[in-house]
Amino acid sequence: TDSYPGLTRDSRFSKLTPEHVAFFKEFLGQDSTVIDGVNADAAADIEPFNEDWMHKYKGQCRLVLKPGSTEEVSKILRYCNENMLAVVPQGGNTGLVGGSIPVFDEIVISMGRMNTIHSFDEMSGSLVLDAGCILEVADQHVAERGYIFPLDLGAKGSCQVGGNVSTNAGGLRLLRYGSLHGSVLGMEAVLPDGTIMNDMCTLRKNNTGYDLKQLLIGAEGTLGIITKLVVQCAQRSPAINVALFGIESYEKAQKAFREAKLQLSEILSAFELMDGTSQRIVHQVRGGTKPLENDYPFYCLVETSGSNSEHDYEKLEKFLEDVMSNEVIADGVVAQDATQIKTLWSWREGITECIGHWGGTYKYDVSIPLSDMYLIVHDVKARLSDAGLLGETDHHPVVDVLGYGHMGDSNLHLNIPVRRYDKEVEKVLEPYVYEWIEKRQGSISAEHGLGLAKKNYIGYSRNETMIGLMKQIKTLYDPNGIMNPYKYI
Ligand code: FAD
Ligand code: MLT
Ligand code: ZN
Repeated sequence: TDSYPGLTRDSRFSKLTPEHVAFFKEFLGQDSTVIDGVNADAAADIEPFNEDWMHKYKGQCRLVLKPGSTEEVSKILRYCNENMLAVVPQGGNTGLVGGSIPVFDEIVISMGRMNTIHSFDEMSGSLVLDAGCILEVADQHVAERGYIFPLDLGAKGSCQVGGNVSTNAGGLRLLRYGSLHGSVLGMEAVLPDGTIMNDMCTLRKNNTGYDLKQLLIGAEGTLGIITKLVVQCAQRSPAINVALFGIESYEKAQKAFREAKLQLSEILSAFELMDGTSQRIVHQVRGGTKPLENDYPFYCLVETSGSNSEHDYEKLEKFLEDVMSNEVIADGVVAQDATQIKTLWSWREGITECIGHWGGTYKYDVSIPLSDMYLIVHDVKARLSDAGLLGETDHHPVVDVLGYGHMGDSNLHLNIPVRRYDKEVEKVLEPYVYEWIEKRQGSISAEHGLGLAKKNYIGYSRNETMIGLMKQIKTLYDPNGIMNPYKYI
């Protein structure tokens, strides 16, 4: 949609004038560093910055700035703060909650030009890089030196490390490498008044007072702009194995996970869940040979990363034998080489794109205790069916209801692919889904953040006191409220 009911433009913010634009052009240059839709007819060039990956949110920004250095970011923010111009930091624009898109006419500050990898310490594994570096490029850089970036996700080819840290992205191997709250060792950021916060510690331990960078990890661009990072990378495992299982019930999937932790322990690096619907859709949209002959209601993808190929493969085979003979899993396949590993992963990583095939998808990214986790898919499906909204004809807005996600982290992605975004569907889903999660003390956002999509629902996962404290911090760092306004805070 291009209008947001209940939201009005904050009249405290200035409207962009030719004088403002001239100021930015003077020090950033005229060409690709400033996309000026105020006077020139750059509408087409500006549109990609006004629309999110899901084509769900649309902004009305008329100016995109592409700073090339921390000093330029600082100069931009100081000027915006003094002139009450609202801004939205934008990385790779792959976020799934509308956080990187302007709501009205906020200026987009696009970070892609700040993409230098500064240094890598092969002894400690600490990587110093600009926030605008693409995740895959950063991982490639450390891979050549025997290390792995501690985060991996389906959007790795276009998301930026600054965006990853700003959303505190979790991804496919959080189970193994932990959250970015642990692996970000240092940060440089520019605060809304232009102050450069330099906390570029490259060491693992630093207990010297408040760890302020933690506030910006997951702040979704509401406190400042991250310009540089120090990231602790792990030793890359030389032996990777991947298996995919077909499973008859969610109870058995839980057993398989418990058994995987027991038997694979230190070499387990991912445990992902895909339901039958998600795999049927990937097959329907993309084609290709299915990894297992028969269809199952659930599939799990298990990855091990260790240092001894033979030993790890043996462990995985023994695990497979055990869970098959105990009828925990119904069928399974182990990748025989790197190409097959990639293919098996594609059945998991391809879901996000394939479920958008019919027009869009309502996405809920939730943490729920494992025992109840999949139940929400059944409940939501029944609710949409009862409302007459789910079906096979064009008349029905809802195509299906499905779940997949990071089972190893109790993180489910509940998705409702639709033929069109529809107010009736929204009314059936919300606040029902959030109430469901609240009842089970879950989180309404496990890893994607709140952005615009979930701004009205933070209260389902955080109490009044917590929200009040967040507001105090926001006011302290950004008293004029210019940083990514109208979003969750
Ligand atoms: P953007 O989308 O550009 O921005 C995201 C937020 O961060 C916005 O609020 C923006 O204002 C802010 N921001 C961006 N850069 C900066 C900066 N330098 N300083 C301050 N604020 C900034 N997420 C997961 O957690 N796990 C997954 O497994 C996962 N898989 C995905 C798979 C696909 C196919 C897609 C499309 C998305 C996936 N995501 C996943 C969503 C995830 O949030 C993003 O992919 C990624 O973390 C966002 O990075 P980005 O550079 O695209 O940021
Ligand atoms: C994933 O795990 O695939 C991502 O978080 C994206 C999604 O939720 O679709
Ligand atoms: Zn995810």
